[in-house]
Amino acid sequence: MEQLYTAQLETPAYVFAEEPLLESLDRVKSIASDNRCHFLYSMKSLEYPTVLKKMLNHVEGFAASSVFEARLARELLGSSGTVHYTTPGIRSRDIPEILELCDYVTLNSGNHWRRLTPHLQGHIKIGLRINPGISLVGDERYDPCSSSSRLGMHIPEFRAHLRKNIQLLPHISGIHMHTNCEGRDFGGLLKTVEKVSRDMGDILNDMEWFNIGGGYFFEYINDEEMEHFRSAVDLLQRRHNLTVFMEPGGTIVRSSGYIVASVLDIVGPVRSKVAVLDTTINHMPEVYEYEEYTPDVIGNYGEDEYDEEYAADYDDDDYYHYTLAGASCLAGDQFGEYAFEEPLKIGQRLIFRNMGAYTMVKSHMFNGINLPNVYFVDKSGELRLERNYTYDDFLNRCSAHSTNGSL
Ligand SMILES: Cc1ncc(COP(=O)(O)O)c(C=O)c1O
Repeated sequence: MEQLYTAQLETPAYVFAEEPLLESLDRVKSIASDNRCHFLYSMKSLEYPTVLKKMLNHVEGFAASSVFEARLARELLGSSGTVHYTTPGIRSRDIPEILELCDYVTLNSGNHWRRLTPHLQGHIKIGLRINPGISLVGDERYDPCSSSSRLGMHIPEFRAHLRKNIQLLPHISGIHMHTNCEGRDFGGLLKTVEKVSRDMGDILNDMEWFNIGGGYFFEYINDEEMEHFRSAVDLLQRRHNLTVFMEPGGTIVRSSGYIVASVLDIVGPVRSKVAVLDTTINHMPEVYEYEEYTPDVIGNYGEDEYDEEYAADYDDDDYYHYTLAGASCLAGDQFGEYAFEEPLKIGQRLIFRNMGAYTMVKSHMFNGINLPNVYFVDKSGELRLERNYTYDDFLNRCSAHSTNGSL
């Protein structure tokens, strides 16, 4: 991505690159096929159609969490792929569209199950989301399995509901769970599947399919961990004769995205300078949401901090230290502390990497700061501008539009 320092692109910019995207897709597709899993892409991490089109030869379908995502999925897939729908917030008025667009719908609660099942008849396969009750994520805000989570039915609740509504059981054909966030191992998945098999194996035996959700960084997982994955999937397939779906999101698109920014200003005392960039945390809101997260910047010492040899040679004084900050009025619009071999200069470009997931989809126009231009770099290295946002887009976000230049 060296060319991003020099290419004729206007900053700030989201740049998506085909090559790392295809690498991630190949990696996960081969894990899925080695394990006889059905591979869906969870659209919520990035819904950019140019990227979604590149996925069509790799995935069996898309996992959507809203009617808009389901519409986009169906538009791209045509009649040749499946759309799976999972949300804790299904509205009755969405049902006709869900029936038209989707093949699978996962209900989230006993109420959902009782109220909506009669309206979801026909071709659609109905699943139920469970909360197996094993927390794999330290921070409750991102833990789908915390005791107070609304995401899926706890198994005892599921059983109690079933006792009172046994007539509903034949209408469901699958179980869904999504239990992790940025997981780097599969020990927890195996433990969870073992618990589900123990606690509701009799119900699993009546089901056709099981969706293990997303929440894993497949790029970091080693062979030993893959054994845990294999065992978890194998248990569902062999013991319970289930078709297994997986629906990763972020791991597929993360490394394909960059944010290219320019240094607008450098302020502050010599030892703790702040470089103000023309991007902002509005363009990568998880930097603010996740308190411990400092995004990767190419050329920053921190990028190599896991390289022990490099770390051993590191001398703080050899580097120029900066807080990188955004262009909005928010005091906390800061990306973190960085160290560079050369002093930064006004006008210089910086490249944030691993910016493909949960950035564009969460971006907004706080302060009226425009969204980044969107560029795509194809396999041959050709960079093209796909979208630039204008004052009219800003007006749309402000619930207004201009006709012939007047509001
Ligand atoms: C139900 C469900 N499936 C899949 C995913 C994708 O997770 P990730 O992007 O972490 O792989 C999510 C993310 O929140 C989710 O809620």
